Amino acid sequence: MKGLSLMSYVVGVLFFLVSCAFAIFYGYKVVSHDLPSGDRVVDKYKYHFVLVPEELDNDYWRLVEKGAQQAAKEYGVLLEYAGPKQANIDEHLKTIEMSMASKVDGILTQGLSDEQFTPLINRVVERLPVITIDTDAANSNRMAYIGTDNYYSGFLAGKALIEDTKGQANVAIITGNFYANHQQQRVKGFQDAVKSEEGIKIITVEESGISRVRAAEKAYQILADYPEVTAFYGTSALDAIGIAQVVEKRKPGRVYIIGFDTLPETLDYIAEGTIKATVVQEPYEMGYRAIQMMIDLIEGKKVPPVVHTNTRIIRAADLPLNNQHQGEADR
Ligand code: BGC
Repeated sequence: MKGLSLMSYVVGVLFFLVSCAFAIFYGYKVVSHDLPSGDRVVDKYKYHFVLVPEELDNDYWRLVEKGAQQAAKEYGVLLEYAGPKQANIDEHLKTIEMSMASKVDGILTQGLSDEQFTPLINRVVERLPVITIDTDAANSNRMAYIGTDNYYSGFLAGKALIEDTKGQANVAIITGNFYANHQQQRVKGFQDAVKSEEGIKIITVEESGISRVRAAEKAYQILADYPEVTAFYGTSALDAIGIAQVVEKRKPGRVYIIGFDTLPETLDYIAEGTIKATVVQEPYEMGYRAIQMMIDLIEGKKVPPVVHTNTRIIRAADLPLNNQHQGEADR
């Protein structure tokens, strides 16, 4: 009887120890997956950064990540790519908070809106460097911005539309999010470019939530509600693709479309003539150079507060694109 109880005691202890080992191991895995993992990983790397986009599985952001990962590899940086699966401002902010709490060496993120992002960025900057990428929170204390000059890119889109439609168009705009700084700037730049053109009227401005499906739904509704619309301007990467899906079924060849970015589907639609023009951004370049800038900041080198990557308009005549980094995200 005594032997038996000793035996069960030993088995019990062993069971307890094994359970603890499992708990620690898997607990660690969960934490290190969800959270940037601070001290544990840095030994192998010189620095540990986090890139927080508004939507993880967006093809445009995968290109930014690709450029950033390439630079990270070259410079011995551990780069985590974390954020909402689908655009969600609260999750975006929470990921920035969590990254700060886990003591990474630097955070790269969009400065989506002044109201929500500026106070948070200002808090983070007291502890570690923040670079805004793609979208600036210019009124915050972020240390630098790298990305498109969003106002200017919208202005270019307006000028291209005037040229392509010979100054005659009733335009519907589908924009990513009303609250987002860069989307507002792309709309404003466009409005300013067309405002002195008598033949150009902006009929409505709608929001897609940066979702292709919603952009298609909005385009469908717009064509039903405003039959006078002859042109669309989509201001985030998937908008023109959603618009094109609807236009090619409902009014093929009769509606002009200008969009943003050079994802493979956009280029296919340009090649076949449904989308007439698009604004080129350099997401890979942004990611790559953002890592270099962050390292420079940490190492006390001078970094310009604003770095604008190139932007220009392309049309079918400019294809194929001579840029090895465009459209590679899902190939
Ligand atoms: C913008 C990104 C945005 C993406 C959405 C791009 O044009 O630069 O900020 O997240 O579109 O698809």
